Amino acid sequence: MGKKVILSGIQATGDLTLGNYIGAMKNFVKMQDEYDCYYMIANLHALTVRRNPEELKQNALKVLASYIAAGIDPDKSTLFLQSQVHEHAELGWVLDCYTYMGELSRMTQFKDKSAKHADNINAGLFTYPSLMAGDILLYQADLVPTGEDQKQHVELTRDIAERFNNLYGDTFKIPEPYIPQIGARIMGLQDPKSKMSKSSTIPNDTILLIDTPEEIMKKLKKAVTDSEGIVRYDEENKPGISNLMEIYGIITNKTMDEIEKEFEGNGYGTFKTKVAETIIKELEPFHKKYDELMKNPQYLEEIYNKGAKKASEVASKTLKNVYEKIGIIK
Ligand code: TYM
Repeated sequence: MGKKVILSGIQATGDLTLGNYIGAMKNFVKMQDEYDCYYMIANLHALTVRRNPEELKQNALKVLASYIAAGIDPDKSTLFLQSQVHEHAELGWVLDCYTYMGELSRMTQFKDKSAKHADNINAGLFTYPSLMAGDILLYQADLVPTGEDQKQHVELTRDIAERFNNLYGDTFKIPEPYIPQIGARIMGLQDPKSKMSKSSTIPNDTILLIDTPEEIMKKLKKAVTDSEGIVRYDEENKPGISNLMEIYGIITNKTMDEIEKEFEGNGYGTFKTKVAETIIKELEPFHKKYDELMKNPQYLEEIYNKGAKKASEVASKTLKNVYEKIGIIK
């Protein structure tokens, strides 16, 4: 029996956040010894919002550099750009034809993004989940590690795969979402009722992985809390403090109980400073490696080309099988 397969990805949409790191990348790193991992950079998905072409290229490199700087070893995991493996776009189209409008209209991300970009509700934004289903199913992935917000898309992927298998016989492995119990939904520091996001327009709401220690300290000091003054986990009534506790807990491996005890009798000032220091320390090696990698685009190019070659071998087998089953001449 070979290793189980993992596929996941991050959109090439700019500098990554602490949410991406905790909700996704930290798990990508943990899983790479035990599983056969494919981690892609979703640059085709990024087209659903208008992008500057030069920035889009640069963003793909930034995500790749972030993967490696966070600890993903390109000798163990397969790292590649979605656009390099043409089977993604092809299977995405096929699966569009096996996905219902009703299913796509129920997707929370579609509803949120169309509200945010009311002037550009394009068809790609709508069919985004079938392209994502293609990403996953091409590699016959067993598990898909993501944050909470992508769970619905993975569940839809399962439905599409089952539908296809029922029609044409066993073709796709049915993937399982892998969502961490803590840290799957890191919230904004200013608006702790909304997910921390690259696209937040509220100042000091989002911690970027490339933020300097001073910026991280400043953002933490300004983070919204409550008037109780006690470090206590209560997501409903104390969303700001609970979010900071989750961030701290994930990095230090401490439970919410342990954190409550640790800060008993301390005010929010002490707690926030400690959380900031912990994030800064965690990201220190990331910063160093990231800066080195971004100075060496040639190395990054070698990595994604090597990864794409391996990914293409697997993806082309799946697509060939799909085409044969549905009667498409290649
Ligand atoms: P994206 O680029 O929005 O986010 C990348 C990963 O980071 C997680 N994440 C978070 N986790 C916790 N708290 C947050 N605040 C937070 N913000 C983001 C996301 O859940 C995700 O795991 N559609 C995907 C990219 C994609 C993909 C795929 C993922 C394309 N094809 C195939 C898995 C499998 C997306 O937009 O992620």
